[in-house]
Order: sequence, then C-alpha cells, then structure tokens
Amino acid sequence: MFVTVLLLLVTLCAQRGNGEERAEAQRPGHVSVVIVGGTGDLAKKYLWQGFFELYVNQVSSGNTFSFYGGGLSPADAATPVLFEILKAVSCSRNVSQDRCALLKEQYLRLAQYRQLKTLEDYQDLAKHIEQELQQEGITEAGRLFYLSVPAFAYADISEKINNSCRPTNGAWLRVVLEKPFGHDFRSAQVLASQLGSSLKDEEMYRIDHYLGKQVVAKILPFRIENKKFLDPIWNKHHIERVEIVMKETLDVKGRIPFYDQYGVIRDVLQNHMTEVMTRLTMRLPMNLSSSEEVLQNQLQIFSSMLPLGRSQAVVGQYQAYKAAVQQELNKTKDHVCLTPTFAAVLAHIDDTQYEGVPILLTSGKMLDERVGYARILFKNDIFCLQNHNSVHCKPKQVVFYFGHGSLQYPAILVSKNLFKPVLMDSEWKEVTEPTDVNILGLPISDYYVQTPTEQREAYSELISHIFAGRKNSFISTENLLASWGLWTPLLNSLANSFPRIYPGGADNGDLLDIRVKGKDIGFNSEVVIISPDQMGGMSANGFQVMQGKYRGADMVSAWAEELVERLAADIQEAAEAAVDEGGVFHLALSGGSTPLALFHRLALHHFSFPWRNTHVWMVDERCVPLTELDSNFHGMHDHLLQHVRIPYYNIHPMPVQLNQRLCVEEDGGALLYEKEVSKFVNGSSFHFVLLGVGYDSHTASLFPGSRVDELGESLVALTESPVKPHQRMSLTFSAINRARTVALLVMGKGKHELITQLSRVKDNPDKWPVTGVKPADGRLVWYIDYDALLG
Ligand code: BG6
Repeated sequence: MFVTVLLLLVTLCAQRGNGEERAEAQRPGHVSVVIVGGTGDLAKKYLWQGFFELYVNQVSSGNTFSFYGGGLSPADAATPVLFEILKAVSCSRNVSQDRCALLKEQYLRLAQYRQLKTLEDYQDLAKHIEQELQQEGITEAGRLFYLSVPAFAYADISEKINNSCRPTNGAWLRVVLEKPFGHDFRSAQVLASQLGSSLKDEEMYRIDHYLGKQVVAKILPFRIENKKFLDPIWNKHHIERVEIVMKETLDVKGRIPFYDQYGVIRDVLQNHMTEVMTRLTMRLPMNLSSSEEVLQNQLQIFSSMLPLGRSQAVVGQYQAYKAAVQQELNKTKDHVCLTPTFAAVLAHIDDTQYEGVPILLTSGKMLDERVGYARILFKNDIFCLQNHNSVHCKPKQVVFYFGHGSLQYPAILVSKNLFKPVLMDSEWKEVTEPTDVNILGLPISDYYVQTPTEQREAYSELISHIFAGRKNSFISTENLLASWGLWTPLLNSLANSFPRIYPGGADNGDLLDIRVKGKDIGFNSEVVIISPDQMGGMSANGFQVMQGKYRGADMVSAWAEELVERLAADIQEAAEAAVDEGGVFHLALSGGSTPLALFHRLALHHFSFPWRNTHVWMVDERCVPLTELDSNFHGMHDHLLQHVRIPYYNIHPMPVQLNQRLCVEEDGGALLYEKEVSKFVNGSSFHFVLLGVGYDSHTASLFPGSRVDELGESLVALTESPVKPHQRMSLTFSAINRARTVALLVMGKGKHELITQLSRVKDNPDKWPVTGVKPADGRLVWYIDYDALLG
C-alpha cells in the first residue's frame, strides 16, 4: 500500500501548482504524525483538519507522511470513530473538487488508529514506523507527537516517547503540548522539569492557539512595517491606554471539572491575553525569526511589569455557574464556589516607554457578545471647539481585531486620523467595500482596514509552523514561567475573593463596567451582589477595621488587606506631619516577607507621599551582599524603592559589606551606621519605625537569649541569629525606643499562637525580645490582622 501511496503522491505533485507551505528548508523525508488523544474533541474539531491542510500543502515538497491516531481504547472500537472524523475534513476553496477527493482518499489511507496505553504500545509503534521506513527504503525526516490529552498525562507519555520512540539518524522529534501548563508558578516549574527530563527544550512545542490567529501573528510584523508611523507615538506620551478584550457568550457547561480548578485568569489571561500584551509592548526584534531575540524582548517586559495585586483586578461569576458546579461536581447547595468566570485586570509596565499607561485585560464567559480585540487608544491632543464630528476630533486608535463581533472577520484597523498603514504582504488585502458597521466607537469608514486574503484556522496555521520548526509561535519554558511569575501573586491574593455575580448575556447591563482609578481598578457601580449563601461564615461587619489594646499599647486590627491599607495611610499621615514640621521624614523599615504587601501599597497607591523629603533607614540587615535575594535591602529595593521617586541620597542601606568582607567587627560597620543616623536624624529619633515579630518573638535582629538588652547606649549592633544567615546588623532597643512612633506589624494564621502567648507574658526582652519595644516618649501601635489575632 505504501508504494501506491508514494506513486499517487508523485502524480499529485505534478498536478499542483501553488499554495506551498513557506517552510524553512529541512531535510525532506518521511514524517510520522501521531495524535495522542486522536479521537478526542480537539482532534475532531481542529487537529485532523489542520494536519490535512499540512498534507495538502506538502504533497509536492518531497516529504511523505503517515498519520496515527492514538488513544487508550482498543483499535477495533476506536478505528471507526477515527475514520468518521477523517471523512469530515475539507479542502480550501482554491483546491478543485476532483483533486480534493483524491487528496482526502489519500489522507485516509495514510492514517490508522493505534492503541497507545503501555510502554509496549509505544515500542510497537516505533517498530512499525521503522519497518515501514526500511521496507520502502526512505529516509526519515522526523516524528511529530501531538499530545491532545489532559496535562496530568504529559510527563508519563513524554517519558514513553523518550524511551521508545526517538528517531535516529538525525531525524527530528517534536512533541506538541496544549495548555494548561500548570496552575501556578510552582506547578508550572514542576511540570517543566518533569518534561525536561524526557524532552529537550527545542523538541517541545507548547501551543497557545492565539499565536496562530492571523491577526495576533501579525502584531509584530505590523509594528515593524509601520515603524516610521508608530515609533513616534508608541509610548507613554501618546498612548492613552491599551485594552485587550476577549468576550464570550458561551457558558462552561460540560467543562466544569476542568474550569472550576482554573477560572478565567488561568484559562485565558495568563496565556492568550498575556501573549498579546507582550507582543504589543515588547521592543521590536531586529530579526523577527529569531525566537531567542523575541523571547528576550518578551522577558524584558515581564521584568518591568508592576506587581499585580488585589487592587488591580475585579472578578465576576455568572449566576448559573454555581448550579452547574453543584450538578457537574456533585456538590451540595452550601458549597461555596469562588471561581471567576469574568475578570478585568489593570497592568502597568514600569519603564520609560510605557510608565503610567494603563493596560486593561478583560475576559469573561456569558457576556453580551463574542468578540476579541486589542485596541491601542491614543491621546487626542486636539481640542475641537465646534465640529466634534470632524475626523481630527475623533478617537485615534489601532485595533487588532481577532474576529467575530460586529465585523465578523479578522482585521487590523487604523483610524484615518492616525496614518495609512503599509500593506504587509500578498496574504493581506485592504478592505474598501462600504459597510455600515461600527467598530469601537467609529464607523468602519473612519478606518483603514486590512484583512487576510484567506482566513485560516489558528490550529492549521500552528500545525504548519510546527512542521516548519518555527519556534517563535510557541511558548518557551522561560516565557511560561515569567508569565506565571506575574499572575501567581494575583491569583493568590484573589483566592478568597467573592466574585460579583452577573446574570449573563445582555442582562449584564453596566454591572461589569470598570473604572480605572490611578493604578487600581474597581467596578464602576458599587452594587455588590453576594447571595447570603455565598457569604458562608463571614460576619456582616467582618471587613471593618477594629481598634483596641494589646499588651497595654494601641492595636489596630482588620483583615490583611484593610490592615495594610490602614498602616500605609498612617505612615503617610506621619510623613506629612513630619515634613510640615521639620521638612524631613525619617522612616526605618524592617525586612522579610510581612512588609511586602505594605511596600506594594505604598508604591502603587500613595502618589502624594512626600518621598522627596523622606529618608529610608533599615531596622536590620542580614550579612550578605545587598545584591542577594536574602538581603533585606534587596527586597526593599525591588518592592518599594525602585517604584517611587525617592532621591538616592535619602536611602540608607546598612554597611554590612566593608573591605570586601561581611560584618567583621573591626571594620566598624555598626558604628558607621550609628554615625550616619546621628548625622541626619535629629536626636537619633526616627519619626517612624516599622517592626515585625518572628515566631520566636525576635524583632529587628534582636533574638532571644542574646542579651540584647545589654547593648548599652549604642544604636546599632552586630547580632547573631539562630537561623542562617547567622550574622546580622540591627538597630538596638536604644535606637528603636527613641522613635516617635513604632508600628509592630503581625500577619497570618501562623502567628496566632505567638500573639496569644505574648498577650500573657510579662516584659522580658531577653526571652521575648519584642517585649523590649517600649518607646520612651513615643507611641507603640500593634497592627495585627484577623488571621493572627483570631487564628
Ligand atoms: C481556550 C479557552 O483556550 O480559548 C476557552 O480554554 C476559550 O475557555 C477559548 O473559550 C477561546 O478561544 P477562541 O479562539 O474561541 O477565542
């Protein structure tokens, strides 16, 4: 049969003329395509069709093919299912009916089903491929495995492929994987390392089907082709905001076992929308086909993004979702289900090009229409006095329209008051026929419109890229981890948030409208619809900030987020008062993870904070170079200082490294810092000292049993920690207790026991160092979150 197929191929080659895949030159030969999960939904909808198009385009290339649909079912049951799917493939318009029939027949004869369950099944498959190659005397070009199976099976299948199906003689191996690639940074890392033990990075093709959408794939070429128009305006001075929108009308019925573990952020924002965002904003590569350069430019964007926290997102859930969960997951009526089916997220890139430009990413199920686009809205600096319909008064925008919506086809639109874009290549055409459609506030006649000459399905496009080895269209491990690095903190901070319930479809009205407030977003309307059964055990006033007394001092308590908001506001108030009084504010900050949320709050919300008049000091430091992750200064720098406009000479890191060594007594680092404090701070009395408390009740770097109360009058000392790194530099109680205000911030359930214990003990700084915090003329305030207070 193989010989007949080859003969037919030769005949077909003679007949066909155009439509060649633009593949890079590769060694021609035989290609074995194996779709694992070959009778599943995705394979049925897109993959067999995509591989058929590849086959049609490659018929005259000198390559030969065999196709295997693999699955867990035995061959006799699954073979008829596979052939039903194969019979449904279709040709594009430019292939004649006769030729199409011939090619389809061919495709069916080259395909077979194989059970792929055990290692032996994979070994048999490899043997079968090798025998056929030998019998026909043809060289092998490569083997392509498309894993269209749930992600938990990836590691095992990749191992089987690695153990038994690797081609020899220089032929390539490509293994294609579909998202989800993990559900957070950690799990993505684990999956990546599992796969890495079986496959080389260049053998893995992680699909994000948005990169196969014609408009998305054209974002970079469009930016390059139109560089001369875009360069002057693609920056913070001209861009008003960027919107990336993916609205869907469907619900997730039938997919709940998957969806309920992921939700909209993991399902589409972390991948599709993030890819669009980085392509829109990354520095243009010199060489578009260099996947390395594109990746590096993308990574640069990730590293300049401001962290995403609770105030940068709103979430929603369509009303019928809960009932669907109860049904599909067999849950009782009181099951609390917080999975968001709608999210809007506000991102910012903190570099000189985009600083301050809001980037809004929005997606949801059961919305009013199905549409996807990315819109770059430019500032219009023209003030129109009279005729607001003049073209120069209208919005200026570039719209990458992925499809559906009122336009119904993919297109790139540039409003006529911006520039006339260059037509990119013969695969794109200008649309000039008049229609009366309106796109994002403008009649279509106000745009220059370009669209692909022939619409191609994203999967078909990507399959041709896999075959051509174009790694650019796929997600590399580094890119994946960088994206999870951005999204994971947000996902964690949203873990217990109640989504706003929306009715679905047109009835949503303006319930999901969003308002951007500086670096925060919120829903525009304040109505919060939480059904009583969603409230669970939360008491109605559970969100309020509470004031009280703890260990005889003032205490403020609230849920973590409100507590941090309150503390940040209190610091700003102290700063303003100090600046009013003496023109300067001296703030000493502690390190570790507890204050990070506070640093973010100060960086992202307190735009009127008098940073120019603020000196930032350190409560303590670990004896490691400042560039190390462990260093308190490093954390303070990354999470706060680099995001605010504070003069360099107002920043006072502790001199733990002198004479190329760390914290050596004779180098006098502690004394140096003390002198610096005395030189700048009036009476060495800081206006505000922020402290934390460790599980052993240490505060600053003053640990139990180290006789920290015997340090006399010195303000700074070298101390010893029971945990690594052992050496520390710390303010002493003398320094701390001279402060005007000392805030002790304690958060998290893990600290509940400590808080209970501390409430009962007498002052004994040697045993319980934190009890030595007793400002002589100042005020001590405990900021304790409900988790730590109530357990
Ligand atoms: C998928 C998501 O990746 O993308 C789906 O899992 C979503 O939830 C789909 O519906 C949207 O893709 P498209 O191509 O229809 O916009």
